[in-house]
Amino acid sequence: MNRIARVLVVAAAVCLASPAPAQTVAAPPDGQTVYAAHCAQCHEQANARVPPRDALQQMPSTRIMRALDAGPMLAIAMTMNRDERIAVAKYLGTDTAESGPSAAAFCTDRSVRLAATPKAAWNGWSPTTKNSRFESAGAGLTAERVPRLKLKWAFGFAGDVAAFAAPTVIDDQIFVGSAAGVVHAMRAESGCLQWVFQANGPVRAAMVVGPLEGGRHALLFGDLAGWFYAVGAETGELLWKQHVESHDSTRLTAAAVVHDGVAYVPVSSWEEARAGDPTYACCTFRGSVVALRVRDGAQLWKTYLSDAPKEIGRNASNALRFGPSGVAVWATPTVDAKRRLLYVTTGDDYTEPASATSDAVLALDMRDGSIAWKKQITANDVYNGSCRSAAANCPQGAGPDYDFGSSAILLDGEGQRELLLAGQKSGIVFALDPRRRGEIVWQTRIGKGGTNGGVEWGMATDGDVVYASVSDVGRTRQDNNLLDPRRYALDPAQGGGLTALRVKDGTKVWYAAPQPCPAGAPAGCSPAQPGAVTLIPGVLFATSYDGHVRAYAAADGKVLWDYDTAREFTTVNNVPAHGGSIDGPGPVVVNGLVLVNSGYPRNGGMPGNVLLAFGAD
Ligand code: HEC
Repeated sequence: MNRIARVLVVAAAVCLASPAPAQTVAAPPDGQTVYAAHCAQCHEQANARVPPRDALQQMPSTRIMRALDAGPMLAIAMTMNRDERIAVAKYLGTDTAESGPSAAAFCTDRSVRLAATPKAAWNGWSPTTKNSRFESAGAGLTAERVPRLKLKWAFGFAGDVAAFAAPTVIDDQIFVGSAAGVVHAMRAESGCLQWVFQANGPVRAAMVVGPLEGGRHALLFGDLAGWFYAVGAETGELLWKQHVESHDSTRLTAAAVVHDGVAYVPVSSWEEARAGDPTYACCTFRGSVVALRVRDGAQLWKTYLSDAPKEIGRNASNALRFGPSGVAVWATPTVDAKRRLLYVTTGDDYTEPASATSDAVLALDMRDGSIAWKKQITANDVYNGSCRSAAANCPQGAGPDYDFGSSAILLDGEGQRELLLAGQKSGIVFALDPRRRGEIVWQTRIGKGGTNGGVEWGMATDGDVVYASVSDVGRTRQDNNLLDPRRYALDPAQGGGLTALRVKDGTKVWYAAPQPCPAGAPAGCSPAQPGAVTLIPGVLFATSYDGHVRAYAAADGKVLWDYDTAREFTTVNNVPAHGGSIDGPGPVVVNGLVLVNSGYPRNGGMPGNVLLAFGAD
């Protein structure tokens, strides 16, 4: 069966227990063949930097898997599907279990207690399901104390090169995922562990704690292999898991939003990157939103956001082509409880024909997932990873790659004009009218935009001013040095910038210029600011590819506090750790604590593997 037939046959299949995706109808790939094709050219040569084949053969296959999924081999594995990764990891590695955290990393009292009504919480992508990223009452920190923030503890993720997960905090309890797919329950006070849970793939999405019967709680989260889990928040035991999409390039990058006992799960993919391989039959992934009942994981509905792909010809390398495809959902949906709508921002199309739902803000009916209205911002944006090098899979007349990577923010407070705010990779911030099917109220350009430009992970607002940072990273592809697992060289002077806009009309309040990397900064330094920003009363927190986390006065953009995370740390769990570039979730500030994950080599930035917790006296 060819790839598309496989995808279609199993489109509705739901797999409950097996850790390997169940859609593998074709013969599994042979590990030795995969090794010869993808690994041997480096691992069979005598080079002090490359572990030789016998060293790989002494590693647990789980560690090899991790190196491919989220470790030093992630750029190399970019064109390999899940079955190939599993096959080569099994072929090379041993069955021995990895050792896991040391006993000393655990708390003496390992109990997890969650209050029915927490005093302070940052639960999920944002403190509320309107996704404003504004921690108003529970911040436990004031502008006056921010300059006194000091490192309280650092926690190292063993063997990882990226620390990109969004922590969730309920009072003194932290839950955070990792590139190795380990979910950690830890105490905010000291960073000691209560339990760990191993997921099938890397976990970068924020987790959401939802109530269960009997005063217990479920911790809900997705991984980069397309699995969505409910784990007992108190125990770390698996309650249920669902493979929400069978396409093998599925990844869940964004947190689900939970409302009235239902988790709404946004589904995204990395197929766009796989299209860079000219022999790849591009493309068959379709973005979707899936509604799962928290209690038992039952699927209530699933809405695909583009039509089913059909064969549309062959590319220059004679590989089949399929379309439409794409329209991934990279960001957490936003709840409009009053209208019973879910606002969903979408990404581009990978192949033609272009969809009317790509690069759009969509309103989905929470009851059945039907699309109530759609507001497309950029039409005909058909783009995939092969377009950077004008390779075989790039469609004719490719679009600008202006996905929405961040959530829409809903403003509907008392006496407030109802608005939806959305920042795009185009570098433009939009205000839409939710009463008029998303009609544009204003739009303001704050950056240049592009594939890795513009607004990427998210904005923050208190309802009066909306704050947005831009990436606009300058990068050049480097294929000449195969031994560097990073695919890109970053420009140390290009990118970044933070803008505050008036919510009522989109006019600028202030602009904080990015700070270029100092002379002699390590490779991978860039002033780009793709990470989400975070707001507490009077203070805005933002991160950068230069490894810094900074606090700005919300009123005028003056820097109040600046900490360079690109350094080594002594950690509470005794794992050697260092920070690097920061991308993704942005700081979480709640209950007097500022939490920052540091390390992001994926787009050419500086690797790192540390979670940092700051507090002020
Ligand atoms: C372009 C060269 C290159 C290719 C191709 C390559 N590797 Fe590597 N690999 C390296 C280098 C260099 C390192 C050492 C990286 C480091 O220590 O930062 C490494 C390290 C590793 C490690 C050790 C990670 C750890 O946890 O210590 C594993 C496992 C690994 N590679 C597996 C693979 C597999 C499997 C493939 C094929 C799918 C592969 N590599 C393809 C260059 C390569």
